[in-house]
Amino acid sequence: MSERIEKMFTQEEIEKRVDELAQQISRDYAGKEIRMVGILKGAVFFMCDLAKRITVPVSIDFMQASSYGSATESTGTVRIRKDLDHSIENRDVIIVEDIVDSGRTLAFLGEFLKSKGAHSIRYCTLLDKPDRRVVDLKADYAGFEVPDEFVVGYGMDYDEKYRNLPYIGILHFDEDK
Ligand code: IMP
Ligand code: MG
Repeated sequence: MSERIEKMFTQEEIEKRVDELAQQISRDYAGKEIRMVGILKGAVFFMCDLAKRITVPVSIDFMQASSYGSATESTGTVRIRKDLDHSIENRDVIIVEDIVDSGRTLAFLGEFLKSKGAHSIRYCTLLDKPDRRVVDLKADYAGFEVPDEFVVGYGMDYDEKYRNLPYIGILHFDEDK
């Protein structure tokens, strides 16, 4: 089997959309400060680009959760592998994710952060796969809707590969002849 990537969003398309999301968030949070919580590791590339374009004060923290092993299917249970470094009490929190699939990870982390006393919590994801949702989770900010395909690049991986691609594409597995 060899892996092939079919381009879906170019670097330029991603930059343009991230810029639009940043403008929208900057308007919505005018006069406030944002605590961004990025979900390791996939959201890192998106979060850096987004944070740089937001015009209100932003502080950052990270969490890591796992629901995927190295396969392309979710196991259904979410575990916290890395907790916050800083208190989010009374903070306006935006959870930043690379992609929402079943919605389990974000729903779980959202409930977890609510229990930590955040003033508000919103969800921001670069990609949204609405067809795959199994829990009731709607992102407040979403970059692009994508079909039910496995995508890689711009932070997203397959078995830790492809995160550093500047574009996003569908991963295909071709039979070797
Ligand atoms: P959920 O909990 O099912 O919504 O899964 C979300 C997590 O699964 C994301 O943070 C990604 O790490 C991973 N994931 C879901 N779909 C894809 C994909 O198409 N490519 C890469 N990672 C994915
Ligand atoms: Mg992830």
